[in-house]
Amino acid sequence: MSTLQFPVPERTTTSTGNIVIDGPLPAMPTGRALVPARAYTGAEEFALEQDRIFSSGWVWAGYEHWVGEVGSVHPVTIGGKPLLLVHGDDGQIRVFHNSCRHRGMALTEDPIVVQGRIQCAYHCWSFKLDGTLAAAPYYTRERRSKLDPETAERLSLLLVASHTWAGMIFIDLSATDTDPQACAESFAAHLEPLLSRWSHIDFSRLHLAGEKKFDVDANWKLIVENFLDFYHLPFVHPQVGPVTVSLDVDDIALHPDIMGGSYPRGAAGKAEKTSKSLPWLGDVPADRLERQDIFCLFPNALVFLEADWFQVIGYHPVAPNRTVEYMSIFVDSSAAGDDYSETRAQLCEVLWEVNEQDMPMLHRLQIGRNSPGSDSTNLVSHWDQVTAVFQDRVATKAGYR
Ligand code: FES
Ligand SMILES: [Fe+2]
Repeated sequence: MSTLQFPVPERTTTSTGNIVIDGPLPAMPTGRALVPARAYTGAEEFALEQDRIFSSGWVWAGYEHWVGEVGSVHPVTIGGKPLLLVHGDDGQIRVFHNSCRHRGMALTEDPIVVQGRIQCAYHCWSFKLDGTLAAAPYYTRERRSKLDPETAERLSLLLVASHTWAGMIFIDLSATDTDPQACAESFAAHLEPLLSRWSHIDFSRLHLAGEKKFDVDANWKLIVENFLDFYHLPFVHPQVGPVTVSLDVDDIALHPDIMGGSYPRGAAGKAEKTSKSLPWLGDVPADRLERQDIFCLFPNALVFLEADWFQVIGYHPVAPNRTVEYMSIFVDSSAAGDDYSETRAQLCEVLWEVNEQDMPMLHRLQIGRNSPGSDSTNLVSHWDQVTAVFQDRVATKAGYR
């Protein structure tokens, strides 16, 4: 397969006037899967992807609201590495390796809120919220052992490059420069095509309407592929509207790590989600009021934007056949009050239901990956170019060809 150019050139081919991109798929199915079936079931491949995909480049780590107050400490595991998301007393969110600098014990396995210090249970070393070592009792066999500043600095928790955007915390385990300014610049460069596409949205105004956890018995890649699969909508989610609405979608691949689609008239064509309309997220231009944008931020954030709400499904792969999803719905902060509480709840219910309907599909997709037949599946060029762009990225990063 040749290397893709980005943005992938558009090719209008559908009878509805929508755009299908010139992606990796040939006009005729080849009977050869772009990602081998073993990559969805094997422990070896899972470990390889943890290393080459989740430990390299910007990856979704969690939500800002998980560490909403000063002293919040929230453990996560990314790329197989235990990490801590920490809200510092300077308001900054930092990410550290969850490993005490003495004997390497994980500092916590559960979310906690601490008063200024994170203390290790083993020998009671304690760390400030910015990671520096605050105290190490009996370090010199004296109870109040005085640490010189250089030692305290050297024994600080190990910082990971991170950046917070649109209510989400992203990390890059491969970055050596962890300075916040360098991280902000690297993240902005990484997401530039999406940030300019969504420059009309004021993401600082996001208000969390609801969050729900889904424990999914499927490989993480199936979750992305299902999210990018617009073909199944009329069959699995008939409530979204007639087939004509599902057909009205454009493929978009902005960047090797940003692929998805856009329904130009999606918000108008699909069924109303709430009985009362919500305020818009910023200064939305008239030609975007009906648009629905749906993108995978490779590898593990799936984002869905309409004029008045923003949905994220972030997830952590935990085994070849198990992934934990955290789905959050955000609205504008002017819809945060009691007068919109029912509307926010309605919106969440409608969106949870759509995700719930996908669960049995994901379960069976996973079962099917144990069949040798899953090495000779046939993506369809009219529908699956964006999924193929995703699989192409997986195959390239993991080295499956
Ligand atoms: S391992 Fe943490 S204080 Fe010893
Ligand atoms: Fe679905």
